Amino acid sequence: MFDINKAVQELEQVHTSEQLESFFQTYLGKQGSLTLAFKDMASLSPEEKKEAGKVLSEAKTVIWSAYEAKEREISIQQINQQLQSDIVDISLEKEHIETGHYSLLAKVRREAEEICKSMGFVMEYGTDLVTKFENFESVNIPLSHPATEMQDTIYITEKDPRGESLILRTQTSSMQNYMIKKYGVPLRAVMPGKVYRYENMDATHDTMFYQLEWLVIDKDITIAHFKHIMDKLLEAILQTKVETRMRPGYFPFVEPGFEIDVRYEILDKATGEKHLSKWMEILGAGMIHPRVLELAGIDPKEYSGFAFWIGLSRLAAVRYGIKDIRYFTNGDLRFAKSF
Ligand code: DAH
Repeated sequence: MFDINKAVQELEQVHTSEQLESFFQTYLGKQGSLTLAFKDMASLSPEEKKEAGKVLSEAKTVIWSAYEAKEREISIQQINQQLQSDIVDISLEKEHIETGHYSLLAKVRREAEEICKSMGFVMEYGTDLVTKFENFESVNIPLSHPATEMQDTIYITEKDPRGESLILRTQTSSMQNYMIKKYGVPLRAVMPGKVYRYENMDATHDTMFYQLEWLVIDKDITIAHFKHIMDKLLEAILQTKVETRMRPGYFPFVEPGFEIDVRYEILDKATGEKHLSKWMEILGAGMIHPRVLELAGIDPKEYSGFAFWIGLSRLAAVRYGIKDIRYFTNGDLRFAKSF
Protein backbone atom coordinates (compact mmCIF):
# COMPACT_ATOMS: atom_id res chain seq x y z
CA MET A 1 0.00 0.00 0.00
CA PHE A 2 1.14 3.56 -0.64
CA ASP A 3 3.07 5.01 2.37
CA ILE A 4 1.93 8.61 2.74
CA ASN A 5 4.02 9.31 5.87
CA LYS A 6 7.22 8.25 4.13
CA ALA A 7 6.44 10.56 1.22
CA VAL A 8 5.75 13.51 3.53
CA GLN A 9 8.96 12.89 5.49
CA GLU A 10 10.96 12.71 2.28
CA LEU A 11 9.48 15.98 1.10
CA GLU A 12 10.60 17.62 4.33
CA GLN A 13 14.21 16.76 3.41
CA VAL A 14 13.89 18.50 0.07
CA HIS A 15 15.85 21.79 -0.14
CA THR A 16 16.77 22.35 -3.76
CA SER A 17 14.83 22.42 -7.01
CA GLU A 18 16.79 19.33 -8.19
CA GLN A 19 15.69 17.38 -5.11
CA LEU A 20 12.14 18.60 -5.66
CA GLU A 21 12.24 17.38 -9.25
CA SER A 22 13.44 13.95 -8.16
CA PHE A 23 10.70 13.79 -5.49
CA PHE A 24 8.18 14.58 -8.22
CA GLN A 25 9.46 11.76 -10.40
CA THR A 26 9.46 9.31 -7.48
CA TYR A 27 5.87 10.00 -6.43
CA LEU A 28 3.88 12.15 -8.79
CA GLY A 29 5.38 11.68 -12.26
CA LYS A 30 4.11 9.12 -14.82
CA GLN A 31 6.18 6.37 -13.24
CA GLY A 32 5.80 7.76 -9.73
CA SER A 33 4.62 5.44 -6.99
CA LEU A 34 1.39 7.40 -6.31
CA THR A 35 0.48 7.43 -10.00
CA LEU A 36 1.21 3.70 -10.24
CA ALA A 37 -0.84 3.02 -7.10
CA PHE A 38 -3.86 4.60 -8.81
CA LYS A 39 -3.25 2.41 -11.84
CA ASP A 40 -2.95 -0.71 -9.65
CA MET A 41 -6.50 -0.13 -8.37
CA ALA A 42 -7.80 -1.59 -11.64
CA SER A 43 -7.03 -5.10 -10.40
CA LEU A 44 -8.93 -4.66 -7.13
CA SER A 45 -12.45 -5.78 -6.23
CA PRO A 46 -15.10 -3.04 -6.12
CA GLU A 47 -15.02 -2.81 -2.25
CA GLU A 48 -11.25 -2.72 -2.14
CA LYS A 49 -11.30 -0.14 -4.90
CA LYS A 50 -13.61 2.07 -2.90
CA GLU A 51 -11.41 1.82 0.20
CA ALA A 52 -8.10 2.26 -1.68
CA GLY A 53 -9.56 5.12 -3.76
CA LYS A 54 -10.42 7.04 -0.62
CA VAL A 55 -6.94 6.56 0.93
CA LEU A 56 -5.11 7.37 -2.29
CA SER A 57 -7.07 10.49 -3.18
CA GLU A 58 -6.55 11.77 0.35
CA ALA A 59 -2.82 11.04 -0.06
CA LYS A 60 -2.86 12.82 -3.42
CA THR A 61 -4.40 15.97 -1.90
CA VAL A 62 -1.95 16.00 1.02
CA ILE A 63 1.14 15.34 -1.10
CA TRP A 64 0.25 17.78 -3.86
CA SER A 65 -0.42 20.61 -1.45
CA ALA A 66 2.81 19.85 0.47
CA TYR A 67 4.63 19.64 -2.86
CA GLU A 68 3.28 23.02 -4.00
CA ALA A 69 4.14 24.62 -0.68
CA LYS A 70 7.68 23.29 -1.03
CA GLU A 71 7.88 24.59 -4.57
CA ARG A 72 6.94 28.10 -3.39
CA GLU A 73 9.41 27.91 -0.53
CA ILE A 74 12.26 26.97 -2.86
CA SER A 75 11.43 29.62 -5.43
CA ILE A 76 11.36 32.35 -2.74
CA GLN A 77 14.70 31.06 -1.51
CA GLN A 78 16.09 31.27 -5.03
CA ILE A 79 14.81 34.84 -5.52
CA ASN A 80 16.43 35.91 -2.27
CA GLN A 81 19.72 34.33 -3.23
CA GLN A 82 19.53 36.04 -6.59
CA LEU A 83 18.86 39.41 -4.96
CA GLN A 84 21.84 38.95 -2.68
CA SER A 85 24.20 38.08 -5.49
CA ASP A 86 22.88 40.88 -7.69
CA ILE A 87 23.70 43.64 -5.19
CA VAL A 88 26.03 46.17 -6.78
CA ASP A 89 28.17 48.09 -4.34
CA ILE A 90 28.01 51.66 -5.58
CA SER A 91 30.02 53.11 -2.72
CA LEU A 92 33.57 54.26 -3.41
CA GLU A 93 36.48 53.32 -1.28
CA LYS A 94 37.54 56.28 0.82
CA GLU A 95 41.24 55.93 0.09
CA HIS A 96 40.67 56.74 -3.58
CA ILE A 97 38.94 60.09 -3.03
CA GLU A 98 41.33 62.98 -3.48
CA THR A 99 40.38 66.14 -1.71
CA GLY A 100 41.29 69.35 -3.47
CA HIS A 101 43.07 72.31 -1.99
CA TYR A 102 43.50 75.97 -2.76
CA SER A 103 45.70 76.81 -5.68
CA LEU A 104 48.96 78.44 -4.75
CA LEU A 105 47.69 81.84 -5.91
CA ALA A 106 44.52 81.53 -3.84
CA LYS A 107 46.55 80.46 -0.83
CA VAL A 108 48.94 83.42 -1.03
CA ARG A 109 46.04 85.81 -1.68
CA ARG A 110 44.04 84.54 1.28
CA GLU A 111 47.04 84.78 3.59
CA ALA A 112 47.72 88.32 2.40
CA GLU A 113 44.07 89.24 2.93
CA GLU A 114 44.15 87.96 6.50
CA ILE A 115 47.34 89.88 7.23
CA CYS A 116 45.81 93.10 5.86
CA LYS A 117 42.59 92.62 7.80
CA SER A 118 44.56 92.06 10.99
CA MET A 119 46.33 95.37 10.29
CA GLY A 120 42.98 97.17 10.16
CA PHE A 121 42.42 97.35 6.39
CA VAL A 122 38.89 97.11 4.99
CA MET A 123 38.77 94.76 2.04
CA GLU A 124 36.66 94.59 -1.12
CA TYR A 125 37.04 92.71 -4.39
CA GLY A 126 34.81 94.96 -6.49
CA THR A 127 33.53 93.85 -9.86
CA ASP A 128 35.44 92.78 -12.96
CA LEU A 129 33.25 94.91 -15.22
CA VAL A 130 33.59 98.62 -14.55
CA THR A 131 32.81 101.91 -16.26
CA LYS A 132 35.46 103.91 -18.06
CA PHE A 133 35.00 106.57 -15.37
CA GLU A 134 35.94 104.10 -12.63
CA ASN A 135 38.83 102.57 -14.52
CA PHE A 136 40.32 105.77 -15.95
CA GLU A 137 38.76 109.16 -15.26
CA SER A 138 38.27 108.69 -11.51
CA VAL A 139 42.00 108.01 -11.20
CA ASN A 140 43.02 111.04 -13.21
CA ILE A 141 43.38 109.34 -16.59
CA PRO A 142 41.38 111.37 -19.14
CA LEU A 143 39.96 109.11 -21.84
CA SER A 144 42.20 110.86 -24.39
CA HIS A 145 45.27 110.10 -22.26
CA PRO A 146 47.85 107.68 -23.68
CA ALA A 147 47.63 105.72 -20.41
CA THR A 148 44.34 104.28 -21.65
CA GLU A 149 46.47 102.71 -24.37
CA MET A 150 49.25 101.81 -21.95
CA GLN A 151 46.96 99.22 -20.42
CA ASP A 152 45.48 97.47 -23.43
CA THR A 153 41.84 97.55 -22.52
CA ILE A 154 39.33 94.85 -23.33
CA TYR A 155 36.02 96.49 -24.21
CA ILE A 156 32.72 94.68 -24.18
CA THR A 157 29.63 95.49 -26.21
CA GLU A 158 27.05 95.29 -23.40
CA LYS A 159 26.22 98.45 -21.49
CA ASP A 160 25.30 98.88 -17.84
CA PRO A 161 21.68 99.78 -16.83
CA ARG A 162 22.44 103.50 -17.17
CA GLY A 163 23.57 102.94 -20.75
CA GLU A 164 27.25 103.41 -19.93
CA SER A 165 29.71 101.22 -21.77
CA LEU A 166 31.61 98.73 -19.68
CA ILE A 167 35.13 97.40 -19.83
CA LEU A 168 37.02 94.65 -18.08
CA ARG A 169 38.97 96.56 -15.47
CA THR A 170 42.62 96.93 -16.31
CA GLN A 171 43.61 97.86 -12.77
CA THR A 172 42.33 97.57 -9.22
CA SER A 173 42.94 101.32 -9.00
CA SER A 174 39.46 101.43 -10.54
CA MET A 175 38.25 100.72 -6.99
CA GLN A 176 39.82 103.80 -5.43
CA ASN A 177 36.98 106.25 -6.08
CA TYR A 178 34.36 103.70 -5.01
CA MET A 179 36.18 102.81 -1.79
CA ILE A 180 36.77 106.42 -0.76
CA LYS A 181 33.12 107.29 -1.38
CA LYS A 182 31.86 104.18 0.37
CA TYR A 183 34.03 104.21 3.48
CA GLY A 184 34.99 107.89 3.71
CA VAL A 185 38.22 109.08 5.31
CA PRO A 186 40.40 108.22 7.19
CA LEU A 187 40.70 105.05 5.15
CA ARG A 188 42.85 101.97 5.05
CA ALA A 189 41.72 99.66 2.29
CA VAL A 190 42.98 96.64 0.44
CA MET A 191 41.52 95.64 -2.93
CA PRO A 192 42.53 92.24 -4.23
CA GLY A 193 41.13 91.34 -7.62
CA LYS A 194 41.42 90.14 -11.16
CA VAL A 195 42.36 92.58 -13.88
CA TYR A 196 42.43 92.08 -17.63
CA ARG A 197 44.65 93.33 -20.41
CA TYR A 198 44.92 92.40 -24.02
CA GLU A 199 48.49 91.17 -23.94
CA ASN A 200 50.65 88.51 -25.43
CA MET A 201 51.21 85.83 -22.85
CA ASP A 202 54.74 85.01 -21.80
CA ALA A 203 56.54 83.91 -18.65
CA THR A 204 55.68 87.13 -16.82
CA HIS A 205 52.51 88.36 -18.58
CA ASP A 206 49.00 86.99 -18.76
CA THR A 207 45.75 88.47 -20.12
CA MET A 208 44.15 88.01 -16.73
CA PHE A 209 46.08 88.51 -13.55
CA TYR A 210 45.53 89.39 -9.93
CA GLN A 211 46.49 92.66 -8.35
CA LEU A 212 46.58 93.53 -4.70
CA GLU A 213 46.20 97.22 -4.18
CA TRP A 214 46.35 99.22 -0.98
CA LEU A 215 44.97 102.65 -0.29
CA VAL A 216 45.65 104.71 2.83
CA ILE A 217 44.21 108.17 3.41
CA ASP A 218 44.43 110.31 6.53
CA LYS A 219 45.59 113.69 7.76
CA ASP A 220 49.33 114.40 7.47
CA ILE A 221 50.24 111.18 5.67
CA THR A 222 53.80 111.23 4.38
CA ILE A 223 56.10 109.09 2.26
CA ALA A 224 57.63 107.83 5.51
CA HIS A 225 54.28 106.33 6.54
CA PHE A 226 54.05 104.71 3.15
CA LYS A 227 57.49 103.12 3.27
CA HIS A 228 56.96 101.82 6.77
CA ILE A 229 53.57 100.24 6.06
CA MET A 230 54.71 98.76 2.75
CA ASP A 231 57.82 97.20 4.35
CA LYS A 232 55.81 95.73 7.22
CA LEU A 233 53.16 94.32 4.89
CA LEU A 234 55.71 92.79 2.55
CA GLU A 235 57.62 91.17 5.40
CA ALA A 236 54.40 89.70 6.79
CA ILE A 237 53.25 88.40 3.43
CA LEU A 238 56.60 87.14 2.15
CA GLN A 239 57.52 85.84 5.61
CA THR A 240 61.09 86.93 5.29
CA LYS A 241 63.23 90.03 5.83
CA VAL A 242 62.59 92.53 3.06
CA GLU A 243 64.42 95.65 1.85
CA THR A 244 62.79 98.16 -0.47
CA ARG A 245 64.18 101.06 -2.48
CA MET A 246 62.23 103.73 -4.29
CA ARG A 247 62.80 105.27 -7.70
CA PRO A 248 60.67 107.90 -9.37
CA GLY A 249 57.93 106.42 -11.53
CA TYR A 250 54.99 107.79 -13.45
CA PHE A 251 51.38 106.83 -12.80
CA PRO A 252 48.68 109.43 -13.48
CA PHE A 253 46.91 108.90 -10.16
CA VAL A 254 49.89 109.54 -7.88
CA GLU A 255 52.22 112.47 -7.37
CA PRO A 256 54.99 111.73 -6.75
CA GLY A 257 54.92 108.20 -8.09
CA PHE A 258 57.44 105.46 -7.33
CA GLU A 259 58.70 102.24 -8.77
CA ILE A 260 59.67 100.04 -5.88
CA ASP A 261 62.49 97.54 -6.00
CA VAL A 262 62.49 94.76 -3.48
CA ARG A 263 65.10 92.36 -2.29
CA TYR A 264 64.54 89.76 0.34
CA GLU A 265 66.36 87.22 2.39
CA ILE A 266 66.53 83.71 0.98
CA LEU A 267 67.36 80.71 3.06
CA ASP A 268 69.63 78.29 1.23
CA LYS A 269 68.21 74.98 2.39
CA ALA A 270 71.37 73.07 1.49
CA THR A 271 73.81 75.18 3.51
CA GLY A 272 71.34 76.70 6.01
CA GLU A 273 72.79 80.12 5.14
CA LYS A 274 70.80 83.22 4.37
CA HIS A 275 71.56 85.56 1.51
CA LEU A 276 69.88 88.49 -0.18
CA SER A 277 68.08 88.11 -3.51
CA LYS A 278 68.72 90.44 -6.47
CA TRP A 279 66.76 93.71 -6.56
CA MET A 280 63.46 93.14 -8.34
CA GLU A 281 61.03 95.76 -9.51
CA ILE A 282 57.71 94.38 -8.29
CA LEU A 283 55.63 97.25 -6.94
CA GLY A 284 54.15 100.51 -8.12
CA ALA A 285 53.20 103.25 -5.72
CA GLY A 286 52.82 106.89 -4.97
CA MET A 287 51.19 109.66 -3.00
CA ILE A 288 47.58 110.02 -4.12
CA HIS A 289 47.10 112.76 -6.70
CA PRO A 290 44.97 115.65 -5.34
CA ARG A 291 42.62 115.26 -8.32
CA VAL A 292 41.80 111.67 -7.32
CA LEU A 293 40.83 112.84 -3.84
CA GLU A 294 38.76 115.71 -5.24
CA LEU A 295 36.89 113.41 -7.61
CA ALA A 296 35.92 111.32 -4.60
CA GLY A 297 34.75 114.41 -2.67
CA ILE A 298 37.78 114.73 -0.36
CA ASP A 299 39.60 118.01 0.21
CA PRO A 300 43.29 117.42 -0.72
CA LYS A 301 44.35 120.30 1.53
CA GLU A 302 42.99 118.42 4.50
CA TYR A 303 43.81 114.85 3.59
CA SER A 304 46.62 113.04 1.86
CA GLY A 305 47.47 109.43 1.30
CA PHE A 306 49.28 106.79 -0.67
CA ALA A 307 48.42 103.88 -2.90
CA PHE A 308 50.52 100.93 -3.95
CA TRP A 309 50.02 97.64 -5.67
CA ILE A 310 51.68 94.36 -6.40
CA GLY A 311 50.84 91.56 -8.82
CA LEU A 312 49.70 88.55 -6.87
CA SER A 313 51.54 86.10 -9.10
CA ARG A 314 54.75 88.08 -8.59
CA LEU A 315 54.20 87.87 -4.87
CA ALA A 316 53.59 84.13 -5.00
CA ALA A 317 56.49 83.65 -7.41
CA VAL A 318 58.88 85.44 -5.04
CA ARG A 319 57.62 83.60 -2.02
CA TYR A 320 57.85 80.16 -3.63
CA GLY A 321 60.69 80.76 -6.09
CA ILE A 322 58.62 80.14 -9.23
CA LYS A 323 60.12 81.27 -12.52
CA ASP A 324 57.15 81.13 -14.89
CA ILE A 325 53.80 82.60 -13.79
CA ARG A 326 51.91 80.55 -16.39
CA TYR A 327 52.22 77.60 -14.01
CA PHE A 328 49.73 79.29 -11.71
CA THR A 329 46.85 79.02 -14.13
CA ASN A 330 47.72 76.40 -16.75
CA GLY A 331 46.06 73.60 -14.79
CA ASP A 332 49.14 71.35 -14.68
CA LEU A 333 48.32 68.99 -11.81
CA ARG A 334 51.98 68.14 -11.19
CA PHE A 335 52.49 71.80 -10.27
CA ALA A 336 49.24 72.16 -8.31
CA LYS A 337 49.93 69.03 -6.29
CA SER A 338 53.42 70.03 -5.26
CA PHE A 339 52.09 72.73 -2.93
N1 DAH B 1 47.16 100.67 -11.38
C1 DAH B 1 48.52 100.54 -11.83
C2 DAH B 1 48.62 99.52 -12.94
O1 DAH B 1 47.86 98.60 -12.95
C3 DAH B 1 49.41 100.11 -10.73
C4 DAH B 1 49.59 101.10 -9.65
C5 DAH B 1 50.64 101.96 -9.66
C6 DAH B 1 48.73 101.16 -8.58
C7 DAH B 1 50.87 102.88 -8.68
C8 DAH B 1 48.93 102.07 -7.57
C9 DAH B 1 50.00 102.92 -7.65
O2 DAH B 1 48.14 102.17 -6.50
O3 DAH B 1 50.20 103.82 -6.65
O4 DAH B 1 49.49 99.64 -13.75
